[in-house]
Amino acid sequence: MKGVVLAGGTGSRLSPLTRVTNKHLLPIYDKPMVYYPLQTLVEAGIQDILIVTGGNSAGEFLRLLRNGKDFGLQQLHFAYQEGEGGIADALRLAEPFAGGERICVILGDNILENSIRPAREKFEQQSEGALILLKEVPTPERFGVPVFDGKRIVRIEEKPKVPCSSHAVIGVYFYDGTVFDRVRTLRPSGRGELEITDVNNSYLFEGQLSYDIMDGGWTDAGTFESLWRATKMVREKVLLAEEQRLAAASAR
Ligand code: G1P
Repeated sequence: MKGVVLAGGTGSRLSPLTRVTNKHLLPIYDKPMVYYPLQTLVEAGIQDILIVTGGNSAGEFLRLLRNGKDFGLQQLHFAYQEGEGGIADALRLAEPFAGGERICVILGDNILENSIRPAREKFEQQSEGALILLKEVPTPERFGVPVFDGKRIVRIEEKPKVPCSSHAVIGVYFYDGTVFDRVRTLRPSGRGELEITDVNNSYLFEGQLSYDIMDGGWTDAGTFESLWRATKMVREKVLLAEEQRLAAASAR
């Protein structure tokens, strides 16, 4: 399975932090934001990774990540998104890289506490289709939100004014090779973007979308509040690991 990190966009909700730099280069505690989704893919055993970027400071990703040595990778791939066509538009650029294989797509501002390896393994059991991850959140109206009939999802609504559930669709998506054909059928939404929610609905309406509930902490980092929450979440994890390391060292 190949991995794709989507790290373009203007990051307008974080202006003026993003006026001269790319959102995904901003710090989350002790590392640049893009490190976290990249680490999430690598930790799930995905080695062949494409970073799609654009907007401000696009070239800085190459200077920062180089060939992926910090992540134990031998090489990284990069693609450049022209304009601001949305998440699904950025994903189109991954078609030649994917070469028909299955992909795991992660949004560059999604920070997860736990591994996505179990989700990867579940998706590998599927003969085709897609798998998305959900997480219960206090503000679902900011996200893609599933509408349930019992345990079955009947549709996903993008940023609904009145959310039908307290779950958000998080920015980690597993897709089979048909994803790019699906993207080609999309029309821009009200906000003028090709929506990843429409890609997911395309799988869903053909009965080819499964889901899992993500355990552990999750947040995006695209607003001041969520950027702060992401920093707090990472800081707590780093401090806890350090505490455990010191306790283990003194027990020896
Ligand atoms: C995007 C997706 C949304 C998803 C969210 C997860 O939202 O459109 O469906 O729930 O990422 O981070 P955006 O970052 O455009 O607000």
